[in-house]
Amino acid sequence: MIGGRKILLVAACALVDTDGRVLLAQRPEGKSLAGLWEFPGGKVEPRETPEETLIRELAEEIGIVTKAACLAPLTFASHAYEDFHLLMPLYICRRFEGIARPLEGQRLKWVRPRDMRDYPMPPADEPLIPFLIDLL
Ligand code: C5P
Repeated sequence: MIGGRKILLVAACALVDTDGRVLLAQRPEGKSLAGLWEFPGGKVEPRETPEETLIRELAEEIGIVTKAACLAPLTFASHAYEDFHLLMPLYICRRFEGIARPLEGQRLKWVRPRDMRDYPMPPADEPLIPFLIDLL
């Protein structure tokens, strides 16, 4: 628990293409925070490492194949939502195979870091933007 809230562990990934653009995914209708743009990823399931989560989620959600050696931890988001406290390690991945496809009905967009502010993000993801602008 943090601050009386249960912890939710979500792994997220900044997939970076050869032009230095980052992939954002728009949360679809019917999900919480629908319409907001996020780094792809998902909940870390029991007995899974965050790297395993990302390998699974990137394949399931966008048809991207990568491996643990291509995922480097970058930073961490920590945000108190009303019902839970989100802890979200953000990884960076520059080496992957496949062409990003919206396999779950979400919209996908490759965005230059300096343009990311034009894409409204969940409150947990937003503080990560300056970090990526500095890095990329
Ligand atoms: O994607 P999923 O709905 O499983 O994520 C669980 C919760 O984690 C979301 O409701 C959202 O509040 C939060 N989340 C977030 N930023 C992300 C992914 C998830 O704030 N990139």
